[in-house]
Amino acid sequence: MKITISQAPNYNEETVTIGAWLANKRSSGKIAFLQLRDGTGFMQGVVAKSDVSEEAFQLAKSMPQESSMYITGKIVEDARSPFGYEMQVSNIELIHEAIDYPITPKEHGTEFLMDHRHLWLRSKRQHAIMKIRNEIIRATYQFFNDGGYVKIDPPILTGSSAEGTTELFHTQYFDEEAYLSQSGQLYMEAAAMAFGKVFSFGPTFRAEKSKTRRHLIEFWMIEPEMAFIDHEESLEIQEQYVSFIAQSVLDNCKLELNVLERDTSKLEKIKAPFARISYDDAVVLLQEKGFTDIKWGEDFGAPHETAIAEAYDKPVFIINYPAEIKAFYMKPDPERSDVVLCADLIAPEGYGEIIGGSQRIDDLSLMEERYQQHDLTGPAYQWYLELRQYGSVPHSGFGLGLERTVAWLSGVDHIRETIPFPRLLNRLYP
Ligand code: 4AD
Ligand code: MG
Repeated sequence: MKITISQAPNYNEETVTIGAWLANKRSSGKIAFLQLRDGTGFMQGVVAKSDVSEEAFQLAKSMPQESSMYITGKIVEDARSPFGYEMQVSNIELIHEAIDYPITPKEHGTEFLMDHRHLWLRSKRQHAIMKIRNEIIRATYQFFNDGGYVKIDPPILTGSSAEGTTELFHTQYFDEEAYLSQSGQLYMEAAAMAFGKVFSFGPTFRAEKSKTRRHLIEFWMIEPEMAFIDHEESLEIQEQYVSFIAQSVLDNCKLELNVLERDTSKLEKIKAPFARISYDDAVVLLQEKGFTDIKWGEDFGAPHETAIAEAYDKPVFIINYPAEIKAFYMKPDPERSDVVLCADLIAPEGYGEIIGGSQRIDDLSLMEERYQQHDLTGPAYQWYLELRQYGSVPHSGFGLGLERTVAWLSGVDHIRETIPFPRLLNRLYP
């Protein structure tokens, strides 16, 4: 019977065959312990000299790291292993001998590992992080499908900019100039007017010259957009959604959180509601904390966000930023036109902003005014105005950055480990 490591618990005391790679091994005179991986998981294979042919035992002792094989043996419970099972090996059939695998069990520098990302992905740690990423994606689809949202795919090649023009990747679209999408939002607003509640999940691109542990050039965003939903209702959806994915990771990624030595007590606290602090109050709080550099009207940087988040053990919404430092489409507060109905959701433990969202301007003449102020001219933006011309309604939406969320829930310091092949300021390889 050919099975995967993940299926091993269903085959206790049975003899099975697994296609696997050798992650690591140790051996003494009469016994070899093989750390096996097959993509679905990690398991130990115990090879006793007395149980196998001389040839198989020699193979177990000599096979280099990352060699591939079909390995056969009996699955038995093993209380000492985090996985709970191991294999008592009866035969090994070598598929391919891997000579001089570059990533050895010793420590390697980050640049070396990044240059070997195509191989580094095989490590237990990277495997755990990608499984958590996968669980967040799975839980996202579940949350929005159960909530009656329709998944809509906005284009990647666009003629317009959603978040300002300085960070656009330019490309040629036959005779026209085009950009890689920074955000699907404008298209998702059109979709919300057609389907009510929608969400997207796709890659977005920002030519940001920032080299920080929170910035990628290419990252994946989940962007829900809801018709007839105001700012406060959108915040409630955001806190429910973030609580749901945190709980899903806790429930379904126990082994992975354990591999990453994540302090799960911190994640257990992630339950809605989350606190809201106004931008005004956040500025005062920062000044009290000794950030004398920050003045009303200026945007917050990473150290400011971290300082604000320190007061909470859950994510916190910073709401109602000055209109001047936010995007053109955000609706002004009806009581105070110098601030807009928006929020950034700041994760705890210094992981920074994971969501940006707002209520959108639904009034045609105000949107036209913003177009003038932001110099949004040309036919590329015409269609977006028309959404305000034909049955305009109050609507809100937000974007959650997948990789920052993976970093936070996994407890990983740097965003480069949260995406299979990170695109960073100085990295396009592999
Ligand atoms: O705050 P941002 O720029 O918001 C938007 O793009 C809105 N149009 C979303 C919407 O309302 N539909 O980006 C949203 C999130 C941020 O909170 C952050 O988590 C992530 O995207 N993000 C990045 N993640 C990694 N690397 C970068 N360079 C990122 N820039 C933004
Ligand atoms: Mg933002």
